[in-house]
Formats: sequence, C-alpha cells, structure tokens
Amino acid sequence: MSEFTHEFPAQLERIDRAVADVRKKTDVVPKVALVLGSGLGAYADTIEDKVVVPYGEIHSMPQSGVSGHAGNLVLGNAEGVPVAAMQGRVHLYEGHPAADIVFGLRVMIRLGAESVIITNAAGGIHHDFAVGDLMLITDQLNMTGTSSLLGPNEDALGKRFVDMTTAYDRELRGVAKETAREMGFQLQRGVYAGLLGPTYETPAEIRMLRTIGADAVGMSTVLEVIAARHMGARVLGISCITNKAAGLGHETLNHDEVKDTATKVRSRFISLIGGVLKRLA
Ligand code: HPA
Repeated sequence: MSEFTHEFPAQLERIDRAVADVRKKTDVVPKVALVLGSGLGAYADTIEDKVVVPYGEIHSMPQSGVSGHAGNLVLGNAEGVPVAAMQGRVHLYEGHPAADIVFGLRVMIRLGAESVIITNAAGGIHHDFAVGDLMLITDQLNMTGTSSLLGPNEDALGKRFVDMTTAYDRELRGVAKETAREMGFQLQRGVYAGLLGPTYETPAEIRMLRTIGADAVGMSTVLEVIAARHMGARVLGISCITNKAAGLGHETLNHDEVKDTATKVRSRFISLIGGVLKRLA
C-alpha cells in the first residue's frame, strides 16, 4: 500500500494548500469555473473586479509550456456571476500525471464552483462541421488510455465509481443552445473524443474515430470532465472547431491554424459564454 500511495500523493492536502494560496489573494467564492482552451483565454480579460493569480503562486499548480496557454487563475465577476477561470491548462502530452491535468479544475471546484464550463479547440470530424463552428459537447470518448481518478480514491472529493451517463449536463446544454439561438447563430452538437496527443491524428485514426461515434477530436477536456463529475460539479463543454480533422481537409494541420481560427471566433465565443453566465446569474 505504501508503495502505491507514494506514486499518488495525497490529493486533498495538495488541493487545499492551493485553495489556501488563492484565498490569500481573494475571498471570491466562484459559482462557475471556466477552463479556457487554446486561443480562448481572452475571455478572462472580460472578467470584472478581477484578481489574477499566476499559476506559479499556487501550491502544486502545474504549468503549461504550450503557446496560446497563459498560466493564470483569474477570479472575479462575469455578468453578475462570481467566476474563476483558468487561462491556460496543462495537457497529458506534456508529461504531467493525469491527476495534475485536473488539479486546477479541482481547486476551482473546491473554492466553491458548482458548475464548470470547459472549452477546447478541436478538429471537426462530422461532415457538416465547418471551420469556426462552435460545438456543444453532448458526450465524450476518453481515448487517453488513462483516468484522472487513477490511484486511491479521495473520499472527501467524491465516490470511487463515478456515473458518466449524463456527464454533460442537459440543463446547461439547453441554456447554451437557447443563448446561441438568441444571438442568431447555430451551435453544432456532438461527441468529443479526447486523445493523448501531441501528434494530430492520422487519416486512418480519424476514420476509426468517426466509426466509433466521434464528431470532434482534441487533446484535452475528457479527464477534466471526469474529475468534475467525481466532485459532483455540473459540466458544460464547448469545442471550437478550428480545423477539419486529418484527411478531411486539403491541408496539413498545424498549431498556428488552430490558434488563428480560435482567435477569429473569439467574439462569438465570448458572447456565448457571457450569455450563458447571464442566464445562470
Ligand atoms: N486533432 C487533435 N487536437 C486538435 C485538433 C485536431 O485536429 N485541432 C485542435 N486540436
């Protein structure tokens, strides 16, 4: 047992030390937590009365080296709702343990967040998806080969065996759909497959993913959603379709294209998140 726990350091203690570090800077109790994906971090700039806590000042908080991912926890108010936002996240492919991938999200939930809005950049697999579309995630395929719940269960955080039947909250999905309709654009909807990365997929992998039910593919989100459900937080997931998945477009894939598209849809994305928060207020 001791050997086992050695590989999985006590999560609760690390999380609560991180929470204490954030509490030294602000007493905002977030209602909603936001995880802002590649090129989508700009939303945090719209938060009012904000307190910006660099990840480096938070105990145990892992930091990303990927461009397009700033490393700040931002707390404040958005549309009258107290929020915490992660501007930038770490990915499995950077070599972090699965538990670290979800560390920041767990801290935000532990700070008080009851709902989380998780966003990402993704390749579009569904034929009807166009570059620049926003997709409401209805369900996920965890294809990372690991789980953020690996190791001894922390009973104070959640149960050992977690139900994932409605991992993406129906009511929040309805709110997002309604918000988009009011703003005059359609949200796509579909299943997000989360892979390890860091390579983009091969065309053969994309054909496989389509066959098993994926509509979009990316390198994040699935472990975070598992951790959020573990802690009982409700999840809204939104993908920005930044490119057609490998073999479906005419060009090769690169991170600049992903960031460029995310930047182009920034204003629509910001309005959508803002509209959703307004309804949650
Ligand atoms: N594949 C995986 N991850 C991604 C993609 C993709 O096509 N686009 C943005 N993130």
